Amino acid sequence: TVPSLQFNDGHSIPQLGFGVFRVDPAETERIVTDALEVGYRHIDTAALYGNEEGVGAAIAKSGIPRDELFITTKLWNTEHGEATALAGIDDSLRKLGLDHVDLYLIHWPAPGKNLFVETWQTFEKIRDAGKATSIGVSNFRTQDLDRLAAETGTVPAINQIELHPFFVQQELRDYDAAHGILTESWGPLGHAVVDVLGSGPLAEIAGAHGVAPAQVVIRWHLQHGLVVIPKSNNRDRMRQNFDVFGFELTADEMAAIDALDTGVRSGADPDTLN
Ligand code: A2P
Repeated sequence: TVPSLQFNDGHSIPQLGFGVFRVDPAETERIVTDALEVGYRHIDTAALYGNEEGVGAAIAKSGIPRDELFITTKLWNTEHGEATALAGIDDSLRKLGLDHVDLYLIHWPAPGKNLFVETWQTFEKIRDAGKATSIGVSNFRTQDLDRLAAETGTVPAINQIELHPFFVQQELRDYDAAHGILTESWGPLGHAVVDVLGSGPLAEIAGAHGVAPAQVVIRWHLQHGLVVIPKSNNRDRMRQNFDVFGFELTADEMAAIDALDTGVRSGADPDTLN
């Protein structure tokens, strides 16, 4: 079974989930249905992805009790500010067919990095109204987290950031940990942009354990205490990515994977995205 990590608000999150970034809205119901059948109970979507309705349809058809599921969605950049954020959560809940999400994230500190404090204060109201059990952020930098703490006196439950063996984000992870913020990895396998899974050292480690490179990478995230949400459209690969609790990486193997870091991100940059 999938272990859970505890948030600073007392609630907890299954450490392994299923991400639906770039899952075609027309295919989402089938793909999420497959993921739920494989055993995933934590689904990560976002208003931006345009597939919340498909996620909701799969949840409804699954018959899985709501309290056994952990559902995350995110507020898009154009919806920062109080009135738009309040409308944003209602819109997401309607599409998902839910009365609450387990986690609601500010997707980026953009636009202009000048509205997220007001948006965060609105998120606290959304949480207090019971529409989101926990609230957090995504793609926040240390300076954004500093500002949030200084201006609101609160810290998010989690920070979801690009993180994989080619971009390990050690400084930001250390900051999160020092402030009681969990770190969640998006694009954990390289999100089809960089060829993490083709790297030689990973193939060697995978061979030693008789597993696939993707399983090694997911183990690496889990053993680092990260929340991880691999995406796959393919049921066999979904199953493979979920079958990661029967082996353990050694300290040397963890260090060898850490050493693959290039320091170069491959997704959007919070410094420049507005
Ligand atoms: P596919 O959806 O065809 O399986 P990330 O989670 O980092 O965004 O990565 C998703 C990418 O990795 C997708 O291109 C996905 O392709 C691919 N992928 C997911 N799981 C595996 C796996 N077990 N082996 C190989 N490729 C995988």
